[in-house]
Amino acid sequence: MTPDEFRRNGHAVVDWIADYQSRVESFPVLSQVKPGEFRASLPASAPAQGEPFDALLKDVERLILPGVTHWQSPNYFAYFPCNTSGPGILGDLLSSGLGVQGMLWSTSPACTELETQVSDWLVAMLGLPEKFLSSSTGGGVIQDTASSAALCALLAARERSTNYVSNKKGCDGKLVAYVSTQTHSSLEKAMMIAGMGVENLRLIEVDENFAMRPDALARQIEADRRAGLTPCMVCATVGTTSSNAMDPVAAIGEICRREKLWLHVDAAMSGTAMLCPEFRHLQNGVDFADSYNFNPHKWMFTTFDCSCFWVADRKALIQTMSILPEYLRNQATESGAVIDYRDWHIQLGRRFRSLKLWFVIRHYGVEGLQHHVREHVRLTQQFAEWVRKDDRFEIAAPVPLNLVCFRHKGGDAANQGIMDRLNRSGDLFLTHTKLNGKMTLRLCVGQTHTQARHVENAWKRICEEAGRVDATN
Ligand SMILES: Cc1ncc(COP(=O)(O)O)c(C=O)c1O
Repeated sequence: MTPDEFRRNGHAVVDWIADYQSRVESFPVLSQVKPGEFRASLPASAPAQGEPFDALLKDVERLILPGVTHWQSPNYFAYFPCNTSGPGILGDLLSSGLGVQGMLWSTSPACTELETQVSDWLVAMLGLPEKFLSSSTGGGVIQDTASSAALCALLAARERSTNYVSNKKGCDGKLVAYVSTQTHSSLEKAMMIAGMGVENLRLIEVDENFAMRPDALARQIEADRRAGLTPCMVCATVGTTSSNAMDPVAAIGEICRREKLWLHVDAAMSGTAMLCPEFRHLQNGVDFADSYNFNPHKWMFTTFDCSCFWVADRKALIQTMSILPEYLRNQATESGAVIDYRDWHIQLGRRFRSLKLWFVIRHYGVEGLQHHVREHVRLTQQFAEWVRKDDRFEIAAPVPLNLVCFRHKGGDAANQGIMDRLNRSGDLFLTHTKLNGKMTLRLCVGQTHTQARHVENAWKRICEEAGRVDATN
């Protein structure tokens, strides 16, 4: 493809995306295709000769679109959001256009230094401790996902607590980590990958708000020490996936400091709310954290993937991750004056992710970002109020930010029926969880273009489907 052809086709793609954005509401939010249906529409083998670009774009429209679940629909209320925005998409496109691979500072200084700068900006934007700044003992790096960030935190914690011996000799089966029963499953996976074993992950019980109980944590650590085990890390969550519960970071942090355990704070979605000072009380005690993670690709309008991870002591992370084969040696690295981010995560190669984040932050400005977060929280709180006032429904968990967990009082089958009918209708998409053993509906407001009318319509449709339950009872 010559630059001229690229220009013509590129304009067509950008036009297509802009058109998609303006008609996204017209598609069923949850794709309605059956398993295997989409694949059956594709040829059995790859084309022997190249095809004209027009044909590709036509097939996106004809074949791909029906198989897409529209995460960017303003009627998307499922799971947690994975929102995006014009500046996010364009930043990602530029990153593809430059095609930079930033494994070392020298393989693209701008890729490394923009990432460092934007990570430092975010420390101030989110009210995070100064020790996370690159000018202090720590620093930030962009990972692909919160799962990778948690794994890196666990590996660094493992190494710190074994004085870097487990990297050399392997684990002795005695290292223990602590999460709550509500912590994201990525921590369990991290235990597998880190060679620490899922049986050495303690699931600490939660209180009536689904938040980790510090007293239970302290008791478990003590019991493990008595049994000759080596506690090494605690993960506290700011906004659990199931119900958006807020673990008491300060109380957990005190225990970690006393017991000399690594504290990782997982704020995957809710970290974005910390842009607004009025929500920062939800992570009081973050100063205790050895590492912290949030995903701008969830709620901060930055195209997937983009997961920001900070450590308080970069030396611990680098010592855990660093290997320097001859073919990567270079003067800048030897000088010690630069960051080589390949030492800050699992993989070697890395994309220029900071470009899209930089675009998003510059496009919206801090105040613009705060405005959208506040609006999402306001709409969510309004929805929660409607649920509270309708005696067919009950709220199932506190609503600190942008997720409402609620249920129809008619029981699991009624809630399942409401959810299935809503999702099949294509009018909106919401998902469920189980809280105290009961099927619970979750409505999360976080898509970039969700407005009051979308949330109002969601409630109207939920009430219509609830009416059907009432009619059959
Ligand atoms: C609290 C929390 N942690 C971790 C994750 C995993 O996110 P990722 O897909 O970035 O690995 C999620 C995903 O929703 C989450 O909600």
